[in-house]
Amino acid sequence: MEMKIEFRNVLDTDRETQLKIRDWRNHDDVRKYLFNTNIITKDEHSNWLLSLKNNDERLYFIAYKNNVPAGVVYPTKIDSTNKSCNLGIYLNPDYFFQGLGCYGYRYQKKSKKVV
Ligand SMILES: CC(C)(COP(=O)(O)OP(=O)(O)OC[C@H]1O[C@@H](n2cnc3c(N)ncnc32)[C@H](O)[C@@H]1OP(=O)(O)O)[C@@H](O)C(=O)NCCC(=O)NCCS
Repeated sequence: MEMKIEFRNVLDTDRETQLKIRDWRNHDDVRKYLFNTNIITKDEHSNWLLSLKNNDERLYFIAYKNNVPAGVVYPTKIDSTNKSCNLGIYLNPDYFFQGLGCYGYRYQKKSKKVV
C-alpha cells in the first residue's frame, strides 16, 4: 500500500493524540536521543501544550501515516528573518525502522518547506 503522510499542527489535533505523544516522548528508546532525557509528567506536558499557543519560535506537527498518528516533527528556534530553524523528530516506537524517518526527511528536502 502506498504510504500517505500528512502533517497537522499538534494544537489542531484531538486531545487523545495530544496526550498520546507524551507516551512516545517518554519511551526509553526515544528520550535517550533527545536533548532533555527526563520523563515528562502530565502537568509538564499540559503546560508545554499551552506554551505552544501564539508561539512563533516553535511549532510541533503530528505526522499521520495513512491517517494514524505516527510521529512528531518539530522546528524550533524558528528565525523567519534568516529562514532557519532546528528540526527535531521522533516517532511512535511502534513505527521505528519502517522507512518513515527517511520519508519525512526526503519530503522536507523536496518540498523545501518546514513540515
Ligand atoms: C530517528 C527516527 C526518526 C528514525 O526513523 P525511522 O522511521 O525509524 O527510520 P527509517 O526506517 O527511515 O530508517 C532510516 C535509516 O536510519 C537507520 N536508523 C534509524 N534509527 C537509527 C538509530 N537510532 N541509530 C542508527 N541508525 C538508525 C535505519 O537503520 C535506516 O538505515 P538503512 O536504510 O541503512 O537501513 C526514529 O528512529 C526515532 O524516532 N528515534 C527516536 C528519536 C530520535 O532519535 N530522534 C532524532 C534525534 S532528535
